[in-house]
Parts: sequence; structure tokens; C-alpha cells
Amino acid sequence: MRIDRLLSNMGYGTRKEVKAYIKQGSVRLNGEVVKKVGEHVDVDRDVVTFLGEEVVYKEFVYYVMHKPQGVISATEDYVEHTVIDLLEDEDRHFEPFPVGRLDKDTEGLLLLTNDGQLAHRLLTPKNNVPKTYFAAIDQHVTDEDVAAFAQGVVLDDGYETKPGELVVVSNEEDGTSRIELTITEGKFHQVKRMFQSVGKEVTYLKRLSMGPLVLDDVLTPLGTYRELSDDEVNALIAYVS
Ligand code: URA
Repeated sequence: MRIDRLLSNMGYGTRKEVKAYIKQGSVRLNGEVVKKVGEHVDVDRDVVTFLGEEVVYKEFVYYVMHKPQGVISATEDYVEHTVIDLLEDEDRHFEPFPVGRLDKDTEGLLLLTNDGQLAHRLLTPKNNVPKTYFAAIDQHVTDEDVAAFAQGVVLDDGYETKPGELVVVSNEEDGTSRIELTITEGKFHQVKRMFQSVGKEVTYLKRLSMGPLVLDDVLTPLGTYRELSDDEVNALIAYVS
């Protein structure tokens, strides 16, 4: 890869700016000041530095976000704030996109990446990647609901869902319930519509996990995000390979 392209891909500036930095002598390749803006770099072997700091090349980025309510799972929107607006400029530079969608009023774990192949593998129904949600329900959830979800329920458009594992966390004195539901699909408003099919309403929804990725409120407080570790990325890739 050309060194000017590598630096601009890594967010050091536009191609024009980067060429100027190279001409100023700010860039070294394996210790030598780079003189040619089109110098070739082997990204697996060569060491490039910018003003003395090593430039670490990466093609893909993987972020886990604790999505807050009030932002939409899209890359851009003329009206609404998007999850991409919550990223730092230097992270947005890699053009990550959300893997699947959470509704505007849903909180929780959202993976963002620019790795289209991984995103596809996580989302394709044939891989049955489980997603677990915590929800508050406006009424008590019954054993009949648990049994119905275990069979699969029919949504308002006639679609019969795959089985879902519904666990009642608590039936509250005020008549509401707290539940956890694990499903392997991602139809539009799926959790809300599954509860509608048994005459109940979701009043709060939060995604807790997706495959091997589990939301950790301490590592990723509400409204923040962090880059996944190499181990987490490898676990995710292995999960759908
Ligand atoms: N199901 C829903 O109803 N909403 C979400 O945001 C995610 C799953």
C-alpha cells in the first residue's frame, strides 16, 4: 500500500495533507525519513512512524456501544441523532455501521463495525445468533406466555417466529413483570411484537447480549462505547465461522 494512502486511511489527514507531512519529513519508514509520497509499505512488516509515534495499521474496527434511548441505529439521518453521532471523529473515520438495529427507545448492546462480512454472518438467520433482551412488561407474564414463546408466536403480519426462551425475572406487586427473552432472529420490533401477540406491552427494552458479546455496564456505561479487544473480536469471528 502507498504510504500516503495508509496514513490518510488511518486518519492522519487528507491525501493532500499527508503528502505535505511526508515532504516536511514527519514520516519515517523503518527508521528512515520517507522522501517519496508514493513509497510502498508492507503493512504486515514495515514500521511506519508519524512524528515519532508508530502508526498502527488496521482495516477493520469493532466497537461495542451501550446505546442510550433517543438515538437511532442508522449511519445518517437529517432529523434524528444516530449512533454514529456518538462516536469520536477519529473512530467515525473508519465508517463503521451498526450491526442490526435497536429501536430509538431501546437501550443496550450494539456492535458497530466496518467489517461487512462479519456483520453479514452475525445477521444472517441461518446462523441463529442468539440475542438476549431484558424487558419490563405492563402485565404479569404467565407460564402460558413462556410456553407460547417456546413454540414460536404469530406476529401481527402472520409471521411465525422461531422459538424464544422467555424467563420471568420477577412478577411485581404493581402487576408488571421483568423478563429476559432470548431470540435468534431480528425482525422489525420483534420483541415488542412477540409480547403484543400475547396481549402485552413492552414498556422498557434493553439488549444484554449478542452471541458471545455481553454488555458490561462497568466497561461500557450507558451512552458510551469502547473498542473490542483482539480476544473479543476473535471470539466473535469464531462464533459465526
Ligand atoms: N425487538 C424490539 O422490539 N425492539 C428492538 O429494538 C430490538 C428487538
